[in-house]
Amino acid sequence: MLVHLRLDNELEPEDQTEFEDLVTAAGGVPSALITGSRKAPDSRFFAGSGKVDEIAVAIKETSADLVVFNHNLSPSQERNLEAQLCCRVVDRTGLILDIFAQRARTYEGKLQVELAQLDHLSSRLVRGWTHLERQKGGIGMRGPGETQLESDRRMVRARIDSLKKRLSKVRQQRHQGRQARARAEIPTVSLVGYTNAGKSTLFNQLAKADVFVADQLFATLDPTLRRVNMGEQGNVIFADTVGFISHLPHRLVEAFRATLEETSEATLLLHVVDAAAQDVDTNIDRVNTVLAEIGVDETPTLMIYNKIDRLEMATARIDRDALGRPIAAWVSAATGEGVEDLLKAILERLPTQVVSGSISLHPSLASLRAAFYNHGTVKTEHTDEQGCSVLNFSIGQLEYERIIKRFGPVADMLLPAGGVNAESH
Ligand code: GTP
Repeated sequence: MLVHLRLDNELEPEDQTEFEDLVTAAGGVPSALITGSRKAPDSRFFAGSGKVDEIAVAIKETSADLVVFNHNLSPSQERNLEAQLCCRVVDRTGLILDIFAQRARTYEGKLQVELAQLDHLSSRLVRGWTHLERQKGGIGMRGPGETQLESDRRMVRARIDSLKKRLSKVRQQRHQGRQARARAEIPTVSLVGYTNAGKSTLFNQLAKADVFVADQLFATLDPTLRRVNMGEQGNVIFADTVGFISHLPHRLVEAFRATLEETSEATLLLHVVDAAAQDVDTNIDRVNTVLAEIGVDETPTLMIYNKIDRLEMATARIDRDALGRPIAAWVSAATGEGVEDLLKAILERLPTQVVSGSISLHPSLASLRAAFYNHGTVKTEHTDEQGCSVLNFSIGQLEYERIIKRFGPVADMLLPAGGVNAESH
């Protein structure tokens, strides 16, 4: 049973369609939607008593076994409603947490969800206890005589502490991973966007990786990283991130900030938009608001208008600014249309140096020859009169330096046959 009320004092009312999508994404089957409007929330039930009666009747008629409010309820409102309706009641935060819990894939994501859930739960338990504790008085209530609620609370607290410890360990490891990547100067391209925009699908196309794609909101909760060799410009890390929604409760933003860390340190953001959605501009604004909140509104961004296969007039293309820099790409992640051009546009937006030239290698230097093939683009190769392989190559500056470092003395002696030029892109 879905309950969505319009409140006079709400500055940014929740979206009813998004609400229905969220419930479906959580695996719920909406049996009825109760709407209404109020000046302000009722302190006992959030909704007015007439509305609560209406909900009770609808529960009977439809045999619904769960009531979901598209609002955040106070712990006591939730309890009062459950008592009055004889039915489980979940608020908006509980709903979003449930979706997160189902979608978390990495260890860190799971820990974060559990922590946020316990946090949500403990605020609900505490109020109940205060009331009970006052009745019973404190002395003589500890130890074996403690109430079930008190031992529950102890367990919740202990679990929260242990989760926090584990989380900080995992984060430290992830931080080290990021530092290692930063040292190697591998650029990170992070996909951001409103939920269901098609980030995971595009990520798969870009990274040829096999991440879980589902026609549901929040298919992705954890940033998924893939290293992709972009030919002559070396490696790029692609990061798939959690989909944004409007009004993500602040406590959740805090809890999931870590999953957005990849975004905050990205070299380039790909802001993926479902171009076939009804409220394209609103979704773009929503995402920009979150990006500003996490402080990445200054990061270079390439807009990706996805799902052009659903639009009648659109074809794959790259939009450029006055300087000729790519600023937007129109693609279909599902069909792959426009993805090749997008990859090129991404390269144009990444700060890289390319070294190109030719080099003559004695057959005994097969591993050096292999290194050129693995880390760069070998445009042509032929064998000269002495039986040496002459490679005409193009390779990222960093990769080139790495090869020189690895094969130092040998590579130094082998002066490139046609010289080496560094080109800036
Ligand atoms: P969250 O993880 O919820 O943030 O979603 P997401 O942005 O990662 O979206 P995902 O890739 O899971 O795609 C959502 C749905 O859109 C899936 O059903 C995809 O098959 C579909 N989809 C993605 N790209 C396209 C496209 O180019 N065209 C069409 N028609 N559907 C697409």
